[in-house]
Amino acid sequence: MGEQSNTFFAVPQQRHDMLVKPDRDETARQEFVRGFKAFIQSGIVPGIHASYHNEVKPAFERQTGRSPRDRHEIRDLMIKHPLFQTYASLQRVSQELLWDVVLDSVERELPALMAQAGAGHGGTPLGSLTLDPSLDLPKYAVGVDIHCMPGGYGQDAGQGDVTAGALYDRGVYLYALGMMGPLNDDIGGSAAKFVRDRYPDFRPRRILDLGCTVGHSTLPFVDAFPQAEVHAVDIGAALLRYAHARAESLGKTVHFWQQDASRTHFPDGHFDLITSSILFHETSAKALPAIIRECYRLLAPGGMAVHGDLPPFWAMDEFNQFMLDCETYYNNEPYWGAMREVDQVALSVQAGFAAQNVEFCMAPSAYRAAAGHHRDFQAGEFAPGDAWQVLVTRK
Ligand SMILES: C[S@@+](CC[C@H](N)C(=O)[O-])C[C@H]1O[C@@H](n2cnc3c(N)ncnc32)[C@H](O)[C@@H]1O
Repeated sequence: MGEQSNTFFAVPQQRHDMLVKPDRDETARQEFVRGFKAFIQSGIVPGIHASYHNEVKPAFERQTGRSPRDRHEIRDLMIKHPLFQTYASLQRVSQELLWDVVLDSVERELPALMAQAGAGHGGTPLGSLTLDPSLDLPKYAVGVDIHCMPGGYGQDAGQGDVTAGALYDRGVYLYALGMMGPLNDDIGGSAAKFVRDRYPDFRPRRILDLGCTVGHSTLPFVDAFPQAEVHAVDIGAALLRYAHARAESLGKTVHFWQQDASRTHFPDGHFDLITSSILFHETSAKALPAIIRECYRLLAPGGMAVHGDLPPFWAMDEFNQFMLDCETYYNNEPYWGAMREVDQVALSVQAGFAAQNVEFCMAPSAYRAAAGHHRDFQAGEFAPGDAWQVLVTRK
């Protein structure tokens, strides 16, 4: 985390009717985890950089006459280093602790949250929720508790369960140290702003958000394109019940669907704008090309897809690749490293997009722009909190 990131450190999470209200003890434990995670970044990570560059790498070069070849070779060296071992184990512990402390609040408040989701917000709902109990949940997405969230994305006890959504909403805020804004929506907000700024005459009639989870990144598209009908899909029923209730509570009209993003039920050419935020790094080598192909099928001529995620590995040096890849090893993110090596441009072209209509761009943070921060970013630049990488494909 850079110095600027601290600007957002103290931003409290914005309240809405579905957000858990931690009691005093739970608040203390959650704040501890947030501080613990921030300490790992500011107190330990710089030491790992220094150990590698001042100690481990020069020793390797003296021994072999060359630099470490790639992130795998760096990992083989660093995994023996006591400071790195400390970092890796603290990262894992902090993540498990994070879910533990959020789960306390969710379990205590679950009956009230379920009642709230079931009751709606009075009057006619703004949007809708369509669940499909027959959906075959993709194994790659539910076979592992991604980023250690207990029960994972597919967890659903039925009968109005919202546990997965409640856990995710609070947990992601703590994980991101507030860097994604008070509504955890900076990726979607920045992508929506990017589309508006770059294509001022583009007026999408229908928008689809893929892998919406609880709708963090969906809602900014409602605000950015008020004339459009906004739809969002995910595979998790308990996520979607929560997402629907959260959107209603925030006064936003979204149609949520339980569907697989790689084979939706929507007709060909149904959408002008398709978006996804941090979906790609959680999809398998088989699912990712299928999702990009589905985007091509679903887009109307003249439409575009904008997918926000962290940058591919080609955009950074081997040491930063190695550090980012720690999520693969210590945070149950099995596709995190592999996805960053996939040639997303080639996949898009194979899916039918013309090569000249496929590009990686940087979407500067909408929150930072609102706070007056402006600078140019290079495609692929790793600038967490300052700008987000987007893959843009136009049909
Ligand atoms: C990291 S979360 C996305 C976060 C969300 N887009 C946001 O910005 O807050 C990844 C989501 O993708 C969903 N997902 C993974 N594979 C999917 C698929 N094939 N179809 C629909 N959703 C999928 C998961 O269930 C999970 O909710």
